[in-house]
Amino acid sequence: MSYTHTICAIPGDGIGREVVPAAVAVLRQVVPGLRVEWAEAGYDTWRRSGEALPARTLSLAQAADATLFGAVSSPLRPTPGYQSAILSLRRTLDLYACVRPVRSPHPPTPLSLTAGEGGRPNVLHNSHSLPLKAETKRQCDTSEWLPSPASGRGVGGEGRTADLIIVRENTEGLYGGGEESDGERAVARRVITRAASRRIARLAFEMARRLNRRRVTVVHKATVLPKTDGLFRESAFDIARDYPEIAVDEALVDSAAMRLAAHPDTFDMIVTTNLFGDILSDVAAVHGGGLGLAPSANIGDHAAVFEPVHGSAPDIAGQGTANPLAAILAGAMLLDHIGYLDEARAVRDAVAATIAGSVRTPDLGGTATTSEVVEAVSHQLSAVSFGSPVDGSAEEHVFSGAVS
Ligand code: NAD
Ligand code: IPM
Ligand code: MN
Repeated sequence: MSYTHTICAIPGDGIGREVVPAAVAVLRQVVPGLRVEWAEAGYDTWRRSGEALPARTLSLAQAADATLFGAVSSPLRPTPGYQSAILSLRRTLDLYACVRPVRSPHPPTPLSLTAGEGGRPNVLHNSHSLPLKAETKRQCDTSEWLPSPASGRGVGGEGRTADLIIVRENTEGLYGGGEESDGERAVARRVITRAASRRIARLAFEMARRLNRRRVTVVHKATVLPKTDGLFRESAFDIARDYPEIAVDEALVDSAAMRLAAHPDTFDMIVTTNLFGDILSDVAAVHGGGLGLAPSANIGDHAAVFEPVHGSAPDIAGQGTANPLAAILAGAMLLDHIGYLDEARAVRDAVAATIAGSVRTPDLGGTATTSEVVEAVSHQLSAVSFGSPVDGSAEEHVFSGAVS
């Protein structure tokens, strides 16, 4: 067999070990020539070897066309010598953008129903595309119903359907400054730089342009953090001037969180700092059907790591009931990234068809196991045939270059 692309697969801890093999099986079904390098990382690896991100794993991730990551556990107490492998990967590979798309599934899942059922049809059959291509977005142009954020409600007030992308700065903020403690007083440094703020804003606006998105909302707390978030805000608005066709507005993170929970249809794209993006993406995931359906991409100029938004879920690990769909959808984002656009679309279609059926894990109100869901996705895919991969260089996707 001749391999056209190599991915690095890092299951990690907990349900990462259940959902990554599941996602890899799906990727192999649609791209039989995919070479997969398996690698270790995480808390268990650290306990066994003293390294949470072994050098071999790092170099495989560096060399691969892309990496699929599961999840790793982090202890609640300070643990000298341990650092989350995903944070190390983001930092070492300079994966400066975390892209988290959320689209309400159709039909709604139990969790998205709890969040408020959308009154509008979800015109995009694929329920979770990372819309790398403008063409994808045109199929689901929301322009006719994009509401005014000032109204705080969807047009007509009836809809809570989400179709949004969170772009999270992934290298600094509260994650980049370190912490100190003398046991009585603990300090965390929150670092914001103009350079990192400009490059994440550039990526967000480039993505908005490419996907025909209409609005980017800059989310911050510059009222309380005028120096750090003031710099982030100023940098983002500065970059926005280069994109006159895209509306830019802003929201304070607290009210943005409420609006995201109640009226996700008032957001198109969000660009924000690291921790705010972490929190807001879990809030937004509710509208997509919950953490079991939320994929994400960590993107740098030289490497990319795709992962479900969820963690290692120790409460359900080892039971065989973890929902593999977030990892499978992260796999679809990976396929887009390396040029397998038809295959990525087929995987999303298969996931949408699976959700619409009765084979669902308990988080989606069903009784199915992880492997039964993989079988259902695989069955959906068995009828589909594929062409050749699109050359990544010719595709010139939104993540390459363009950093000021
Ligand atoms: P979590 O995302 O692991 O779990 C939150 C809840 O959602 C749990 O009830 C869990 O059972 C459920 N859940 C998550 N994914 C699911 C899935 N695929 N199918 C069904 N149910 C699912 O968050 P947590 O409990 O706050 O964190 C657990 C551990 O994971 C911590 O050690 C944390 O540091 C780590 N974590 C790692 C990553 C990562 O590696 N990228 C991300 C988040 C959390
Ligand atoms: C995420 C996770 C990580 C983060 C943790 C595991 C370090 O919550 O990817 O959302 O905080 O970024
Ligand atoms: Mn998180």
